[in-house]
Amino acid sequence: MAKKPISLPAKELTPRQIVHELDRYIIGQHAAKKAVAIALRNRWRRLQVTGTLREDIMPNNIILIGPTGVGKTEIARRLAKLSNAPFLKVEASKFTEVGYVGRDVESIVRDLTEIAVNMVKAEKAAEVENKARELAEERLLDILIPSNRRPKPPESPVSSSDTLEEHENTRQKFREKLRSGALDERIVELELSFAQMPSMQVMGPFSMEEMGVNLQEVFGNILPKKEKRRKVTVTEARRLLIQEESQKLIDMEKVVKEALERVENSGIVFIDEIDKIASARGHSSGPDVSREGVQRDLLPIVEGSSVLTKHGMEKTDHVLFIASGAFHIAKPSDLIPELQGRFPIRVELKSLTEDDFEKILTLPQNALIKQYAALLKTEGIEIEFNDKAVREIAKIAYEVNDQVENIGARRLHTIITTLLEEILFNAPDEIAESNIVITQKIVQDKLNSIVKNRDLSRYIL
Ligand SMILES: Nc1ncnc2c1ncn2[C@@H]1O[C@H](COP(=O)(O)OP(=O)(O)OP(=O)(O)O)[C@@H](O)[C@H]1O
Ligand SMILES: [Mg+2]
Repeated sequence: MAKKPISLPAKELTPRQIVHELDRYIIGQHAAKKAVAIALRNRWRRLQVTGTLREDIMPNNIILIGPTGVGKTEIARRLAKLSNAPFLKVEASKFTEVGYVGRDVESIVRDLTEIAVNMVKAEKAAEVENKARELAEERLLDILIPSNRRPKPPESPVSSSDTLEEHENTRQKFREKLRSGALDERIVELELSFAQMPSMQVMGPFSMEEMGVNLQEVFGNILPKKEKRRKVTVTEARRLLIQEESQKLIDMEKVVKEALERVENSGIVFIDEIDKIASARGHSSGPDVSREGVQRDLLPIVEGSSVLTKHGMEKTDHVLFIASGAFHIAKPSDLIPELQGRFPIRVELKSLTEDDFEKILTLPQNALIKQYAALLKTEGIEIEFNDKAVREIAKIAYEVNDQVENIGARRLHTIITTLLEEILFNAPDEIAESNIVITQKIVQDKLNSIVKNRDLSRYIL
């Protein structure tokens, strides 16, 4: 059966554009960016392929290899964001926990589906927001305008035109007041009738546990519906009515269908610490059996299988899997061959240098220094780091990583928080100046004694 091309919901970025976007958040690691960009674009390409060949084109699953804190998770997370794909991160090592072995690797697919449903629901809610807002306003007006001022049902069209006009005037006045916020504090009585969610029908032969249904969740949805009349402020009423109207406007069946498709065609699963479930050759003893067990459990969903979720069947054949690990002891070749074969692309991420740190501190959209500047701005303080100070922080981060333990860019967090601790604590009570410039000297004064003292830096930095 020939299939029409399906278009992805996302902006369809070319590989170069994807790398360009990733560059805004992640410094260096070009090889990894390139690999994920190709994998992402290949999925879009697959969906343009017509005919049965499409089904046979497999995703370019990737293993990201590299030490801690160099951007592995960050790359995957950003990739998912910019492709608008449902994204789930799991720790491979979690599956070795007692009672978890072999239990439920399928929960990955259920969780991913749940994420997709919420994602699509939020998109649809945004689409109908204006409409829902309008409808909510009309209902609020109905509540606010006393019924004796509403028009009587017209006995004859001519005699009622007067009252109708009067009524429209009143309504317009109230509408203006309402929009200006003048009525926000007023208490109104509200009648709500939330639409039933269609997800209740799947109570067939499967246990609640298997379906991933949480009792609290189910009853939490039902209970508030009993109390239908409520006294609330206009502000709260507006919020509730918008919610209710938006629920009425959203077709949940369509949402679920779209979510299932989105997972199948563009879902991304990030499996962290995959090296923890690989056993280095020649070391095979007791616990390795369970590691291999986890790999075998993962195999079907990575290879492609159908998993029953509470929203319906989900096929995992084209879900993109990105695994990551440090692979200090075990190597990718220590994974069971079937699993290795399903991760054909290996990319190494490099340890970060002093130069990288300098860039990471300042360049990314969400750079640490920008984050703290924004935080302190809320207290009326402008903080600025001059170039030499940034250089000094990068240097210290590199040194501590080198001498104590290499935790990659995460080192910058500990250093910046130590550096700024006093300012963060004293603002706004004890700080007089509204402009602070952090200089190289300030960085050295604050941090050098800690860096020099190995024991101290082990605890503090
Ligand atoms: N190359 C980089 N560019 C910019 N920021 C980075 C880079 N590498 C790491 N970071 C920052 O450091 C933090 C940790 O990075 P990330 O979570 O990607 O580490 P990881 O490689 O997944 O490590 P782990 O193996 O411990 O999971 C994040 O806040 C991230 O923004
Ligand atoms: Mg990580």
